[in-house]
Formats: sequence, structure tokens, C-alpha cells
Amino acid sequence: MAETTNELWAAVDEYLEQSVVHEDEALRMARASIAEAGLPQISVAPNQGKLLFILARLQRAQRLLEIGTLGAYSTIWLARAVAPTGRVVTLEVDPTHADVARANLGRAGVADLVDVRVGKALELLPDVASLAPFDLVFIDADKPSIPDYFRWALKLTRPSALIVVDNVVRDGALADPTSADPNVIGVRRLHELLRSEPRVSATTIQTVGSKGYDGLTIAMVNERQ
Ligand code: SAH
Ligand code: DHB
Ligand code: MG
Repeated sequence: MAETTNELWAAVDEYLEQSVVHEDEALRMARASIAEAGLPQISVAPNQGKLLFILARLQRAQRLLEIGTLGAYSTIWLARAVAPTGRVVTLEVDPTHADVARANLGRAGVADLVDVRVGKALELLPDVASLAPFDLVFIDADKPSIPDYFRWALKLTRPSALIVVDNVVRDGALADPTSADPNVIGVRRLHELLRSEPRVSATTIQTVGSKGYDGLTIAMVNERQ
């Protein structure tokens, strides 16, 4: 049995994977290939991947944008939600991560649906604008840039689109105004921006699981008045 709180959270995530989530072979292989390639094991958890899938399906999404690909674990979930006619654009700064991602997308049978672009997201986004409007944007790259990515997402989405931001609670440091951690400052600036942003209706949900204590923001772009 789990000995510590974190082990208990991980055990429940494992149970959820086996009961409700059901990763298939391609998703399991993607996770394994990320570990084998020595990439950081910071992909979304299986139950979070499935949440992205459900949100994208709810949106009847056809155009998705992801910022931060890693090994394409989350990208596979998103691509499956838009198959066979939709498209996913995903931005990744590290060419090694992008190679692992392309291999995983190929094994999952969704390579044709996904455009992996390599570079700093803030430098790629001006070109990505030609593919807008997006139905869902998933922000999951470097955390200090979250406010900038969120402003881009606002620019590139249609009314009723969703903007989802990962890793915004950070072991509770989100509520610490004295934090000097640039990642924490990034997620606090996002929440300051949301306080006075009339174009979205947003909420943030705290989560625990195999990735520890964190959370995600879900912002819905309001219909234009
Ligand atoms: N979304 C993935 C996890 C992404 S991890 C999943 O859940 O499966 C964060 C990724 O963002 C890393 O691969 C990292 O290299 C990338 N990244 C960091 N800074 C970036 C930047 N400025 N532009 C684009 N990608 C960046
Ligand atoms: C980190 C990044 C992530 O996107 C994540 O889900 C967990 C951790 C990180 O940079 O440490
Ligand atoms: Mg993340």
C-alpha cells in the first residue's frame, strides 16, 4: 500500500488509468519512449490526457494549438480528438524532443494530423496566426512565458474556444505573493491577467496525482457582444 501522501496519489492515478482511462498501446509506447530517450517525464498524466481529449471533443474542435510538445503524449490525445479531419499544430523548442514526438505520432497513426514546429514558441506564433482561429489552445511550455502565451491564445481563438494552461498551482506556491520563482511569478501573472480580462470566463482547478500537487486553468473565450 502507499506509504506517503504522494504515493497514495500515484496509486490512485494508476487505478484510474486501469479503470476509466485505458491508455492504448501507442500511448503506453509514447510514455516508454520518453523515458528511454532520457526526456523529462513531465507529460500530462493519463487521466489529464483524457480530459484534454474530452474537452476537445466537447468543442467539436478541428483546429488545435499546443505550446510545448515534449514527446507528444498530450498531442496524441489531442490529435485523436480531432481525427480524421482536424489538425493540431504543436510548438517545441528542443529538436531532440521534436524527433521523439514525431516518432510517437507516427506509431500512434496521427502523424498526418499534426504539424510539429521547432523553435521558441514566441518566435513561431506570428506564423501560426495564419492558421487561426483555433478551437482549443493547450499551454504547457516554459512557465515564465505563460502570460505571453495566454495573450497569444486570446488573439488566435474563436468565441467559445477553450484555453487550457497546465501546471499553474505549483505545490500551492500560486498563493504565495512573496515567491521569487520565475515559474510561480508566471502563473501568478496569469491569474492577475484573468482578474481583469473580460474576454474569457476562467477557472483554476487544483489537482493531485502521479505528478504531485498542481493544477490547471480552463478559460472559455466569451461570445463577442
Ligand atoms: N505537453 C507535453 C509536455 C510538455 S513539457 C505533454 O503533456 O505530453 C514542456 C515542453 O515545452 C518541453 O518539451 C520543452 O522543451 C518545451 N519548451 C520549453 N520552452 C519552450 C519554448 N520557449 N518554446 C517552445 N517549447 C518550449
Ligand atoms: C514541468 C513542466 C511541465 O509541463 C509539467 O507538467 C511538469 C513539470 C517542469 O518544467 O518541471
Ligand atoms: Mg505540464
